[in-house]
Amino acid sequence: MKPINVGLLGAGTVGGGVFTVLTRNASEISRRAGRPIQITVVAEKNKARAEEVVAGRCRVVDDAMAVINDPEVDIVVELIGGYGVAKELVLKAIAAGKHVVTANKALLALHGSEIFEAAQKRGVMVAFEAAVAGGIPIIKAVREGLTANRIEWLAGIINGTTNFILSEMRDKGLGFDTVLAEAQRLGYAEADPTFDIEGVDAAHKLTLLSAIAFGIPVQFDKAYVEGISKLEAIDIRYAGELGYRIKLLGITRRAANGIELRVHPTLIPEKRLIANVEGVMNAVVVKGDAVGATLYYGRGAGAEPTASAVIADLVDVTRLHTADPEHRVPHLAFQPDQLSSVPVLPMSEVETSYYLRLRVQDQAGVLANITRILADRNISIDALMQKEPADGEVQADIIVLTHVTRECNVDAAIAAIEALLTVTSKVTRLRLENLN
Ligand code: HSE
Repeated sequence: MKPINVGLLGAGTVGGGVFTVLTRNASEISRRAGRPIQITVVAEKNKARAEEVVAGRCRVVDDAMAVINDPEVDIVVELIGGYGVAKELVLKAIAAGKHVVTANKALLALHGSEIFEAAQKRGVMVAFEAAVAGGIPIIKAVREGLTANRIEWLAGIINGTTNFILSEMRDKGLGFDTVLAEAQRLGYAEADPTFDIEGVDAAHKLTLLSAIAFGIPVQFDKAYVEGISKLEAIDIRYAGELGYRIKLLGITRRAANGIELRVHPTLIPEKRLIANVEGVMNAVVVKGDAVGATLYYGRGAGAEPTASAVIADLVDVTRLHTADPEHRVPHLAFQPDQLSSVPVLPMSEVETSYYLRLRVQDQAGVLANITRILADRNISIDALMQKEPADGEVQADIIVLTHVTRECNVDAAIAAIEALLTVTSKVTRLRLENLN
């Protein structure tokens, strides 16, 4: 049967992985897809690098438009990244009637609505399994495997760099800066690691998961994003003493009056499976009303894991490209005219539990004042721990775990606590999810 022809934009690590896996597993992939899938052309500014990756298996050009305008190319794979030139090229590929496969979470989290609408109008598919959690088929699972369910919530470790840093901080008792430098030395963290450590990369991925879980438009601008750069080793230690691990979680939840969409360091009971996901691994828990809680675990990055997701999309597009566009799987799981306008909630309206660490003068009445402030705002205490002052010191740490309450109540309580003369530093606030 006539092969389906693929053009790659970008020939870096993932492009190399796609070549390797497509070549190694060509026969099985073709048996699954119903016809061979072959890369016929690669566009890469650094032609010498691309020639090395390609090793004579296809043409190499330095102009992306030559791929997009090539009448022989059926599917364009965008592996450039970012939302500058990549956006322009994806829209041009769609306009040229090409199906698009992309690993670009930043592009889709910011411009997904425009891109999916353009694709819908032109009758082409934009597939993005590799954009979220690398090799874990989480898009397929949520969009298709769980399609019978009303999704209640989803929580994921969807950034390997930060999970590696948190694992090392806990294992070795080291500070954030030391472990970040180690992650950079090992090649896990980028030279500019801002998007990873500040939670932006996780929020891009979570925005896409939230859209397909709840049938809402992609709305990265409404996400609450807090990374791990201010997390202190002492809080990881205290959390451990209380039976919790701290993970950078992306959480999206259907609440009574809207959708929660948030990324932040989160305490999780250490007995939960997801609390034990260590190093660069990713994991996502999805709770559906019919199926209950389901867990997906695997590699969130790397050449072959990401290629695994890209090629799965190539097979999907190969199978479906002759189908009537109205009968394909919708980009965002729900039919485009059925997207919901339910709002994404501001962080002040989110409900969760909290870990608060306070440094106080160790004297009579301090604890009573603090518990009164919490009680006045209807914040119920779940656990309380006081760490005795170190020898020669007069200040103690108090750690409070609360039951579920609304973020705005905690904001008000923290302001009142920080105004007490006996509280000697800013309150450290972390969020806690029981995930049960
Ligand atoms: N930088 C990401 C991570 C991988 O650390 O998980 C690509 O999404």
